[in-house]
Amino acid sequence: MTTTTLPSATALPRERLAELVDALVAQGWYVGEAFIPAELCAELYQEVAAMADHQALEAAGIGRGPAHALRRDIRGDAIRWLDRESRARRHYLEAMGELQQELNRALFLGLFEYEAHFAHYPPGAFYRKHLDSFRGRANRVVSTVGYLNPDWPADAGGEIVIFDAIDPEREVSRVRPEAGTFACFLSDSVPHEVLPTRLPRASIAGWFRRNASLGGLVDPAH
Ligand code: OGA
Ligand code: MN
Repeated sequence: MTTTTLPSATALPRERLAELVDALVAQGWYVGEAFIPAELCAELYQEVAAMADHQALEAAGIGRGPAHALRRDIRGDAIRWLDRESRARRHYLEAMGELQQELNRALFLGLFEYEAHFAHYPPGAFYRKHLDSFRGRANRVVSTVGYLNPDWPADAGGEIVIFDAIDPEREVSRVRPEAGTFACFLSDSVPHEVLPTRLPRASIAGWFRRNASLGGLVDPAH
């Protein structure tokens, strides 16, 4: 019997994690191609495509609690929160756990929880420019998006546009939602939007959270 440790199937390569941390520190955002393993993306894509076919997704709203509202003029995707009911979902959540550990180790962010949902944008859908959390109540600290569509055509739209944290009118990146590509940014300071898509567009959007206790109340997960 040998004691060699084999890298786990879900491990995100160390050098890619380091690249991500460096970019977050330097500019507040990161985009990497071929970041999430192709086989994992393929399984997750099958799952969300089946959910879309079986009406197992719900229209996404904006705002939390009593302020929650459906606003097709702002956001047109349909979502389902990620559980651990399939191997692919567990693997994705394990990979995000590795990222959480690395962010805490390298940046002392104190992230303690991760929440994520599948998102499916039907043709014509978009998500207007927004931040994922608001300063002061910022329990969402770092946002992640993993893209799932294989072979996304250059003319199919659906790009995520990322804006500068200091100069929010300045576009700094425009990214095709191609399977394997991974975006990560500071939730309360990096504005971003999803341009109208011409094809059904599938992703997993997620957030690392810190516990925001306000007056003894713990902010609910969702
Ligand atoms: C979000 C979001 C971006 C994307 O769900 O908050 O900004 O590219 N998603 O799917
Ligand atoms: Mn967002």
